[in-house]
Amino acid sequence: MSKRKARLTIDGIEKAFELPVYEGSTGPDVLDVRSLAGEGIFTYDPGFVSTASCDSEITYIDGDKGILLHRGYPIEQLAEKSTFLETCYLLLNGELPNAIEKDTFETSIRYHTMVDEQIHEFFRGFPRTAHPMAMLCGVVGALSAFYHDTLNIDDPQHRLMAAHRIIAKMPTLAAMCYKHGIGQPYMYPRNDMAFTESFLHMMFSTPCEEPRVSPTLAKAMDTIFLLHADHEQNASTSTVRLAGSSGANPYACIASGIAALWGPSHGGANEAVLRMLNKIGDESRIDDFIARAKDPNDSFRLMGFGHRVYKNFDPRAKVMRQICDEVLDEFGADDPLFRVARKLEKIALEDEYFIERKLYPNVDFYSGIILKAIGIPTSLFTVIFATGRTPGWIAHWNEMLSSPYRIGRPRQLYKGKTKRDYPG
Ligand code: SDX
Repeated sequence: MSKRKARLTIDGIEKAFELPVYEGSTGPDVLDVRSLAGEGIFTYDPGFVSTASCDSEITYIDGDKGILLHRGYPIEQLAEKSTFLETCYLLLNGELPNAIEKDTFETSIRYHTMVDEQIHEFFRGFPRTAHPMAMLCGVVGALSAFYHDTLNIDDPQHRLMAAHRIIAKMPTLAAMCYKHGIGQPYMYPRNDMAFTESFLHMMFSTPCEEPRVSPTLAKAMDTIFLLHADHEQNASTSTVRLAGSSGANPYACIASGIAALWGPSHGGANEAVLRMLNKIGDESRIDDFIARAKDPNDSFRLMGFGHRVYKNFDPRAKVMRQICDEVLDEFGADDPLFRVARKLEKIALEDEYFIERKLYPNVDFYSGIILKAIGIPTSLFTVIFATGRTPGWIAHWNEMLSSPYRIGRPRQLYKGKTKRDYPG
């Protein structure tokens, strides 16, 4: 227990409150305010700007320095030397796998990539024009109908199997969302392909010809998944934890994370960036949009810019920009949107409004341009984000359930009517 204390005195209340101060292995200290409820006092923090909701050992972010560590490993080193599946193992287990552990994990994932054929019936119910995130949210929640009665979330092995299943099935479901929208037959995962190669096969192959997956695009896609794998207690991960704290089925918890990710302020930003770049269209119009982003009376924001935690470059954005260069060079795609994005980034980073508010490009700013170059439609961008973020969501769910936990139940500052009698 901490020896350090914070003393809190409140006008009008004689008593001083002593709050324990805890230190993490790195990063900000925290004040333990749990005793305040017993004194009839709540802390107030809408948006949870200053609130640590839990202990965690999975991911650390230093927003001022632009640092992102997964189990202590810098994201830049993982992006360069690791793979998405190896990073999934790291997030789940806390250490990089040795050769045997890696092979065992990859084999387990490989043999859980198929989904029950009944899932096809769920897709049949969606209009072809349904947003892919609407479909993904629905079918992932539906997985809880197939894996519920036999699942004991108090059993670590059951939790690990659920984690393997959801990581393995997400790309299959993501590709099914795409195929449903374009009216093509679903392609089954291939056990003779690597994980992300098989995903691109399910996305772009058809039964009419032999699969051809570009190794460059498979590597770029794998790194994009890796860059999205986890990000501490962001909105969607916190949603998964809150849903999981009631003991809900893990697939239903992941579906709640997908729902939270969908919004344009969160994972929906990558889709919004592409729509913004298309609306800007030409470098000559950038200044108009920068002016709108700065205008307090205009709701327009520069999508892909700013972050609740990063007040410096998002380290993932730097890797993304490098992948952008590589993919566009390889495919000779002189994408005018990339030129607009580079110019927009340059102008914004030199503008006082953005400098003063420490608004930098985030993970979503460049990812859409790469996904577009890979051939993924804009409407599927957030589905890609969800596929990449699945290991993070399920690792946090598992971490929470691995030690004693309580149901999350925030309180409020009530500002409504006080007691009054029903008239008459
Ligand atoms: C993700 O939390 C995570 O880790 C998320 C994520 C992950 O991996 O899980 O990193 C993924 O969600 C990245 C963020 C993607 N969203 C966007 O790119 C949408 C555009 N960005 C903004 O909406 C905003 O920056 C947020 C939502 C990301 C952060 O919002 P905050 O922390 O609540 O900041 P704020 O809205 O209070 O903004 C502070 C100031 C305001 O100006 P003032 O009122 O002080 O004058 O900065 C301004 C805002 O108007 N501002 C922007 C801006 N972002 C903030 N102005 C113009 N364009 C922007 N993009």
